[in-house]
Amino acid sequence: MRHPLLLLLGLLLLQQGRCFVEFVIESEWEKETVSQNPKTLAIRGDHITVKSYKVESRITSRFAHTTVRSSVVNSGSKAQTIGFNVQIPKRAFISNFTIFSWWPEGRRQASSGTGSMFLLCRANAQDMETFKTEVHVPPGSHIEFELHYQEMMQRKLGMYEHTLYLQPGRLVPHLQVDVYIFEPKGISMIQSPNTLGNQFADLIHVTTSKGKAHVVFKPTYLQQRKCENCSETAVDGIFTVQYDVTRDNNAGELQVSDGHFVQFFAPSNLSPLPKNIVFVIDVSGSMWGIKMKQTVEAMQAILDDLTIDDNFSIVDFNHNVRCWNEELVAASYIQISDAKKYIQNIKPNGGTNINEALLRAVNMLLRATNQGLINPRSVSMIILVSDGDPTVGEIKLTTIQKNVKRVMREEFSLFSLGIGFDVDYDFLERIATENRGVAHRIYSNHNAAEQLRMFYRQVSSPLLRRIAIQFPEDTVSDVTQNSFDKYFSGSELVVAGKVQPSESTTLTSFITASAARLDIALQTEADITELDTELAKQEHSFTGFARQMWAYITIKQLISERSLAPTAVKKRKITQQIMLLALDHQFVTPLTALLVESEDASERLLADHPKDPRHACCPVTPVQLKYQPPPWVHMTTPAPPSPVKKVDNDPHFIVHLSRSNFDVCFNIDSKPGQILNLVSDSGTGLVVNGQLIRSKRMNKGKVNTYFGTISVYYQPDGISLTISPASISMDDGKNNNTFTWATHNSHISITINNNIHMMVLLHRVWKKNPVSVDFLGIYIANDNQYSPLVHGLIGQFSREPDVSVYDVHEGADPLKEEATMEVKGNRLQVTRGWQKDYRRDRTNGSNIYCWFVHNSGKGFIDGHYTDYIVPQLNSFLPTTHSNV
Ligand SMILES: *[C@@H]1O[C@H](CO)[C@@H](O)[C@H](O)[C@H]1NC(C)=O
Ligand SMILES: *[C@@H]1O[C@H](CO)[C@@H](O)[C@H](O)[C@H]1NC(C)=O
Ligand SMILES: *[C@@H]1O[C@H](CO)[C@@H](O)[C@H](O)[C@H]1NC(C)=O
Ligand SMILES: *[C@@H]1O[C@H](CO)[C@@H](O)[C@H](O)[C@H]1NC(C)=O
Ligand SMILES: *[C@@H]1O[C@H](CO)[C@@H](O)[C@H](O)[C@H]1NC(C)=O
Repeated sequence: MRHPLLLLLGLLLLQQGRCFVEFVIESEWEKETVSQNPKTLAIRGDHITVKSYKVESRITSRFAHTTVRSSVVNSGSKAQTIGFNVQIPKRAFISNFTIFSWWPEGRRQASSGTGSMFLLCRANAQDMETFKTEVHVPPGSHIEFELHYQEMMQRKLGMYEHTLYLQPGRLVPHLQVDVYIFEPKGISMIQSPNTLGNQFADLIHVTTSKGKAHVVFKPTYLQQRKCENCSETAVDGIFTVQYDVTRDNNAGELQVSDGHFVQFFAPSNLSPLPKNIVFVIDVSGSMWGIKMKQTVEAMQAILDDLTIDDNFSIVDFNHNVRCWNEELVAASYIQISDAKKYIQNIKPNGGTNINEALLRAVNMLLRATNQGLINPRSVSMIILVSDGDPTVGEIKLTTIQKNVKRVMREEFSLFSLGIGFDVDYDFLERIATENRGVAHRIYSNHNAAEQLRMFYRQVSSPLLRRIAIQFPEDTVSDVTQNSFDKYFSGSELVVAGKVQPSESTTLTSFITASAARLDIALQTEADITELDTELAKQEHSFTGFARQMWAYITIKQLISERSLAPTAVKKRKITQQIMLLALDHQFVTPLTALLVESEDASERLLADHPKDPRHACCPVTPVQLKYQPPPWVHMTTPAPPSPVKKVDNDPHFIVHLSRSNFDVCFNIDSKPGQILNLVSDSGTGLVVNGQLIRSKRMNKGKVNTYFGTISVYYQPDGISLTISPASISMDDGKNNNTFTWATHNSHISITINNNIHMMVLLHRVWKKNPVSVDFLGIYIANDNQYSPLVHGLIGQFSREPDVSVYDVHEGADPLKEEATMEVKGNRLQVTRGWQKDYRRDRTNGSNIYCWFVHNSGKGFIDGHYTDYIVPQLNSFLPTTHSNV
């Protein structure tokens, strides 16, 4: 067995002002026999009284700062060692630990007794590690432990889960847990499932109001008892708070605080992408018995979850590699039943040839790709389930890693599941990370099948591919990973960075992604000061969250980059970066240890140096920290808007004529409720219509009309997009996916087949505006590639008419010149005027100088405007209108 075990920290002895540093290495912690409830008590010592045990978490925007405080008295007659153990989530970083001690004479000391020891032990229970410390104190002394740690909540299966391990070890007069949550967008769901025991069912209280929640658990001394006359505590286990946030905007949530930004992206209601999955299952001798039984049980459920749009196969391996089916097959009822039977009949035995099995699986995907059997919008993945290191064939882990990497394609990914502890989990993690997947450890206990299923559920529903989250150039720096291969339903993509100082009061992000049937591009905008103003008003918020979150994500990324680093020099460089960041943001990472401060104000950083623990106390010389964004970060600036035809506000149509190089505008005086056709192309199967709404009141004796709904229907894919100020819904024939607009003014860009582009802009008016209502503007690119059959109020201008304007003279209004326009054989009187283009400046618009055609565009458009009124949002124009 090979265990990367444990992280060791130092043993610090302060004796007569001299510092001895020794190291304790705990080994073989990662035994499977270590249960979920380690028998180590939180507070150890024979004659001690625990006065209080308090845990407080402040969660702000998914970032949690937890403080565990305990107050203990040595009530024995001798000096003794008091231990303080806390289980913390593996993903958390400790940020501060202090021991206060009061000697009998009343002297208060910080951070050290006559001797104290800190230990951080990894991986002894599911997702938890133990922080241990001991302090030796004289009788009568009073000790206070205070531990702080921070972590980011990862959204899984539609919620965030905050877990606190409560282990006071005995009855405590003052025991209290407080979890304060502040989520700027609001909390959509919160619960604290009682996992501590029935007797506590009514003692967990959850209160919520708007974006805030408070969960409190405060059992009295008597309520903590295991039974009526016991002196043992029943408080021993995991305290859980689960919640999710309100997402009024599928484009995500952009938050700016304290010079840092965090972009969250967790769209829902999208149709899942179809999948091609190859399950690669270890059936070597070590899987025999319960592990295989659990794997079979999990696979039954997993296979049932596949749909007919998915293709799959199964590779099982010991020293040999077999396939249930040499080719990927559609997940039909018959195939699934057959596959289940196949798995059920497997009898594990023999060795482990991981290399051969993985290569076979990749080959299967490659063959299907080469035969054109893979839908380009689908997700192709290999799911490896193994419980041991390779023993047959290629057994060198680094060679296996190279072999797999060499044959994998960009569009395939590998997920690896390690059962138990006989498997080199670091290897599984490296090989998965390197191939766009993740690794997951399955604890081989009673619920292993459930763990397998839960993991599968997290990856079974990919909604988007090739997601890029970008920012305009020079607005941000030090951006964490911002391009992602996949987004799975129920999870969340998070990007953080620093905001560059600028005059602007807002920050914008752009998200592009590929969905089941189409590509989407979304934009979010955030006010730079709004959130800080709000946070300042919140009593229990964690104000430094954005800064810490940025550092947290960056360090996590650097740690995984480090594990893939090819050379020792590279590794060392990354280690230095991590140490500096950790020091700056006060995190204890697997590569750094606690900064120990003693009374004489000397301080040292104890660094974990696994190769030679005796030299772990290394002085850290500051080096210039220059954070290079990882190579997959591509920052691009969105292209400046190109010339377009647009309809905005009232509706005013502006048509840019490229050849003549001027703009022509006209209004359509139609009635509220009517649907106007803008583009109708029976050749490509595209139709764009707009339905009118009216203003609240008449303005200067006239009812203004606006576009209240814009509909884009693309017949070949059966996709219809219905956009209104209230929502954006996308019906792909199977699902009706609804998005909502960002809180700030926003737009959506629509691209069809990469050659038709348009943008819909939302204009919000002040809610109490007596006249105006929220309305839409649409901007349609000039160089769209329609078929020759295209028509519609705007579509017809893809064939640019010959237009000439002459006899320009001063008009009745001296500011508005008049002229004669010759177009389509008509001679029209036109007026020079200004119209607004709102693409750059959403509030005021930018002025466009255009020739205005009167009478609802008569003479400039083909026929009469009423010819463009259609009955339904998805209606094409009657074909007689095409090709006029
Ligand atoms: C660590 O916590 C102690 C106790 O609350 C506090 O006095 C100290 O300032 C903290 N250290 C830092 C660097 O925040
Ligand atoms: C608890 O102790 C009291 C008094 O000693 C006794 O009357 C009672 O029956 C005990 N209860 C239980 C559940 O043992
Ligand atoms: C599954 O295979 C069929 C052909 O056998 C192919 O048409 C389909 O696109 C494949 N599905 C995916 C998700 O690639
Ligand atoms: C999709 O759902 C939205 C909101 O529920 C609704 O307004 C819209 O009409 C629906 N679209 C279709 C095509 O069913
Ligand atoms: C719009 O105009 C107002 C008033 O002239 C001005 O204060 C504001 O800054 C302008 N907005 C933008 C985004 O330019």
